[in-house]
Amino acid sequence: MSTDEARQSALEHYRQGLQVTPEQLAQIRDAFVREVQAGLRRDGHSSLLMLPTMVDILPDGHETGEFYAINFGGTNLRVLFTKLAKDKKQVELVEECTAEIPLEYRRCHVDQLMDYVAGQLIAWADHHGGGLHRHERPVIGFCFSFPVEQTAIDAGKLIHWTKGFENEGAIGQNAAQLLADAFKRQGLSVHIAAMVNDTVATLAGIRYGDGIDANVAVIMGTGTNACYLEQLSHIEKWLPGFRPRTSDMVVNTELPGFTAPELPLLDVDEELDAESNHPGQQTFEKLTAGLYMGEITRRILLRLVAEDGLFGGQAPDAMKVAYAFTTMHVSLIYHDESAELDEIGRILQEVLQLPADQTRTEDRKQVQEVCGLVAQRSARLMATAVTGLLRQLGRDGSSRPAQRNVVAVDGGVFAHFPAYTALLHEGIRDILGEEAAGLCSLKAVEGGASFGAACVAAAANNYMKAVGN
Ligand code: GLC
Repeated sequence: MSTDEARQSALEHYRQGLQVTPEQLAQIRDAFVREVQAGLRRDGHSSLLMLPTMVDILPDGHETGEFYAINFGGTNLRVLFTKLAKDKKQVELVEECTAEIPLEYRRCHVDQLMDYVAGQLIAWADHHGGGLHRHERPVIGFCFSFPVEQTAIDAGKLIHWTKGFENEGAIGQNAAQLLADAFKRQGLSVHIAAMVNDTVATLAGIRYGDGIDANVAVIMGTGTNACYLEQLSHIEKWLPGFRPRTSDMVVNTELPGFTAPELPLLDVDEELDAESNHPGQQTFEKLTAGLYMGEITRRILLRLVAEDGLFGGQAPDAMKVAYAFTTMHVSLIYHDESAELDEIGRILQEVLQLPADQTRTEDRKQVQEVCGLVAQRSARLMATAVTGLLRQLGRDGSSRPAQRNVVAVDGGVFAHFPAYTALLHEGIRDILGEEAAGLCSLKAVEGGASFGAACVAAAANNYMKAVGN
């Protein structure tokens, strides 16, 4: 076979494998809905954990008071302070502070990790508005973006770590208590009024500002996930000691674990999984999330080097390093519109140590195409989860006339990959059709999950005050 024929065949393999057709999307959506329903049943076996969150009252914009938020995501730790006045328009939001969580804190004992987390809020509050000490007992919304079995709105046990955290002493423990203890060690008594997943915080944030059309929230960042507001009567598994106050509860699907034979797994996905820390787990996340899009791309490019003669058939050593290529690079490459694809040349030089004058425009184009295919697959798969949840809610236009749906979104990929939202919306359109998709909007939350976590704390705190606790 000539080099040119070989080039066709390897790239073609990924072109076909990464493009998920509308028919496949509908099948994956159906499989997802089946897993959702199985996961809600008491003895249902499902790849989705479908975790009841104990959040049965979402903020409506009437909350008042002063609240801190800690958003412990994957890559970053964020803290903020907000003052909520009666009229939601009078919100005061003190600038959010973001710190990248140093790598050593992903491996240490959980107490040390929580000391770091508490320390970040304490140090930040010292510089903004006089410190935590000025409150008798500061109220905190804790956004803890990991799978947690909630026992109350402010308590829950970590089921397992994700996103590269391995801290000892955490699994099975109440993460809110671990954090409160860390504040205690630093001489502060705090009230963690709510501990929520980032999806739940995102839904709460949009509810606070935007009213009741939002029933679904998705995160696409280092990890990926989705939650939605389910009727309590559908949540068969249960909930010891829970006294319903409304007829609904937010359910954290823990979408990362979703798996089904319908998912279009490729050779590179299987390799990535086999070489990951937890093979066989988090299948959906490995196909979609920010942590993995760069790595999938790197693996495909290596195949193109070996089989198609990309980069002259020579893979530089830097290209053989796992996770050397990030989703940020995928985004920058995707958005390069210059005639000679100069930005791509720069990234290939910087990251893969391929001298810019040695990468041909043809090679850069192929790299850009692969980045586009990987991002598009991620977004389209994500669309199956969004539309699956709308179907479960009876809001996808299939059983009743299509209605307005606001899907709250947050996470680094939405923030730093400008085209991602449009790719997701295209996937939604391919599944729901023009009309229903036209009524479905994807909306970022101002202040993100951090602000949302403060809002859940506010709703919980205000409710407790109202009932005299
Ligand atoms: C992870 C966590 C999940 C979280 C998601 C996004 O995969 O398991 O709880 O919501 O990342 O941060």
